[in-house]
Amino acid sequence: MTKQQETKLLPVKSEDAVLLAAQLLKNGNVVGMPTETVYGLAANALDESAVKEIFNAKGRPQDNPLIVHIAGLKMLEGLVTNVPPQAYKLAEAFWPGPLTMVLPKTGKTANAVSAGLGTIGVRWPAHKGAQAIIKAAGLPLAAPSANISGRPSPTSAHHVMQDMNGRIPLILDGGQSLVGVESTVITFLPEIAILRPGFVTQGEIEDVLGEPVKIAPSAQRELEKGEAAESPGMKYKHYSPNAEIFLIDSNSEQYVEFINKLKDTSDVFALCYNDDTENIKGVPCISFGERHCLQSQASGLFSALRQLDEAGAKTAYAPLPAEEGVGLAVRNRLLRAAAFNVIHI
Ligand code: TXA
Ligand code: MG
Repeated sequence: MTKQQETKLLPVKSEDAVLLAAQLLKNGNVVGMPTETVYGLAANALDESAVKEIFNAKGRPQDNPLIVHIAGLKMLEGLVTNVPPQAYKLAEAFWPGPLTMVLPKTGKTANAVSAGLGTIGVRWPAHKGAQAIIKAAGLPLAAPSANISGRPSPTSAHHVMQDMNGRIPLILDGGQSLVGVESTVITFLPEIAILRPGFVTQGEIEDVLGEPVKIAPSAQRELEKGEAAESPGMKYKHYSPNAEIFLIDSNSEQYVEFINKLKDTSDVFALCYNDDTENIKGVPCISFGERHCLQSQASGLFSALRQLDEAGAKTAYAPLPAEEGVGLAVRNRLLRAAAFNVIHI
């Protein structure tokens, strides 16, 4: 159990706040940190007990490894080894930014970071506040998303407060996370594969590498009983609000027609695109982005899932997003939020 404590909320733009965060991190504490994807729950990646505190605060299963956040390529030295040339190409193209690369570890990071694997995931975030915190601490920071395990990832400091109030000493507020879905996770061994789709797309990665890159099966569908996930995080129920979610595989007219046949029982919601709201009658709508703007869906999804809970939704029906570009990441998160409940029309 984590002990109950006062949680301070301070702006990341304040130098004093960043120095306080750095001090806490050096002393083995866990701090809520903004990044451009989602907020992270950061601790010194070299300190075994600090990293264990992250697992405690989140209630995270011990076999799900954490991403190590760096600020600058120099920080990679000593942390990973046998870095393939493709990783340098991708770093040049996408770092700082929403790409996590799984690389062979040296053993310098705490064991709990890699949850028994021989690799660590590393990412250089683009958010200036995150960079300031990492630099002030002078440490690589292990950080998963700052939600209670299983809940939707936080895209604002307020979301982190909802989940972590009383569990950690400090949250730094860096505004809305603009990307809104977590980083793309890529591995190079035994072959190059995307383990978790994210904001950096398969097409963008293939363009930089000049070779095809597959998407791991566990990233796209529900695992079968006993099947191993290449990325342990993909095997857990995830991103779930309290409401039961169903995804509707249909075109937009069919979706609206389906919704308009539902009875308003005050706890049934449409989790829809902005464009649909004017055509939906009878049940309340919470929208998560524009139908034709995948990036707006990415940045709005997690907040919309939390709004469902705040509105007391018991059931919500959402369109199944397209499998293209960033839509793949949105679809991956929604499928997990919906426990793979898809209604085909
Ligand atoms: O955008 C992000 O990646 C955010 C921000 C805070 O940086 N972090 C994040 O962390 O989403 P988390 O812990 O919620 O998700 C990490 C994912 C999990 O699916 C985990 O299984 C995978 O990355 N992962 C981490 N290290 C790995 C490794 N060594 N091998 C395979 N998968 C790994
Ligand atoms: Mg997470």
